[in-house]
Amino acid sequence: MSAIGIHDIHAATAHHVLDLDLLAAHRDVDPAKYRLGLGQDRMSVPAPDEDAVTMGASAAAALLRRTGTDGIRALLFATESGVDQSKAAGVYAHRLLGLPPQVRTAELKQACYGGTAALQTAIGLVARNPDDRVLVIASDVARYALDSPGEPTQGAGAVAMLVSADPALVEIEPVSGLSTADVDDFWRPNDRDVPVVDGRLSVDAYLDALTSAWDDFRARGGADVSRIDRFVHHQPYTKMARKAHARLAEHTGAGIGADLIEDGLADNRQIGNSYTASLYLGLCSLLRRDDSLAGKRIGLFSYGSGSVSEFFTGVVRPGYADAMRAAGGMDLDARAPLDLDAYRALHASSGARSDDAETPRVTTAPFRFAGVRGRARVYEATA
Ligand code: COA
Repeated sequence: MSAIGIHDIHAATAHHVLDLDLLAAHRDVDPAKYRLGLGQDRMSVPAPDEDAVTMGASAAAALLRRTGTDGIRALLFATESGVDQSKAAGVYAHRLLGLPPQVRTAELKQACYGGTAALQTAIGLVARNPDDRVLVIASDVARYALDSPGEPTQGAGAVAMLVSADPALVEIEPVSGLSTADVDDFWRPNDRDVPVVDGRLSVDAYLDALTSAWDDFRARGGADVSRIDRFVHHQPYTKMARKAHARLAEHTGAGIGADLIEDGLADNRQIGNSYTASLYLGLCSLLRRDDSLAGKRIGLFSYGSGSVSEFFTGVVRPGYADAMRAAGGMDLDARAPLDLDAYRALHASSGARSDDAETPRVTTAPFRFAGVRGRARVYEATA
């Protein structure tokens, strides 16, 4: 069978940005705790007319301008900040993107692991019908309670990936290491719009899941650690990826230095957590910054609280660097800065609602959430 993997990738984030020094001053915390202790500098904050659908569709629209829509038979939308309990976020995106009706559309959820569930499902669909292509969108708004420990790790972002045979960017290898464990480290009950979090437990659960998934990966014939050239670990905040890498080095006894993860942290430091998208924002950050990766193997660790995790690998294809350069990427300096009061007001007003209301026109992204009419969410192009 020919190679299957990521043919194209594109990331997007939210309209606003908050500098974490402002949050540190408000909370009377040393700014170094956020910059060094958590490894975060800034966080993306959605405008009132943005959500997981608009960010995901914006990322996908940029990708589809390059690839076209021919052969796309499925749209798999991964999110844990979904906008409806029944209708898939992907159905809204499908219309915004002008995809034909002959597409299988569904939403996948398992905390931050959902993006990987979508990617692996897409690979399975392409393996069955190699002429098909699958659009995967991972998109989330990571929103914690004001003044909670998770608040400085908030963020928002989306990644769209086109999965196909003979991919131009990264071939995903068939061996995966898996680990599922029923643990109450982070969850969001149906009557709450911020999660319940045991942050300390989540750090331990993540690290235990990493070694468990790694051991399964090796037991099933996955590459020895010395044959993996770069690593991207899930990043609820970038310090967590450093902790993961140190744990893997200790567990394997290998001399895998922090230089092997550095390029994959750069964008996430500026965006904050993006749940399902976070691992793939890290991959995008690496592919854009390092042009020496052709033929190299990347180890990817996906963790979703609750918990499900997977360690898998991809081999970078020749020509990827030119493709990434030609595609361009997010301009993180173009985000509109918020002061602390504006951020807190936006946070307080951004909970779930289903009563009819118009949404103020703020975002300059390609798509916006116009409001609720007849209890249904309305999305539209901004131009
Ligand atoms: N300068 C530098 N570092 C500092 C510091 C300072 N002035 N003050 C504190 N730190 C460091 C701490 O030593 C700690 O580092 P370590 O983790 O390497 O020990 C880090 O900053 C965080 O401090 P801590 O006191 O543990 O933070 P916290 O109790 O406020 O919460 C989380 C941290 C991660 C638990 C919290 O952000 C959270 O709940 N996040 C959401 C859940 C999550 O993302 N989980 C991750 C796995 S999915």
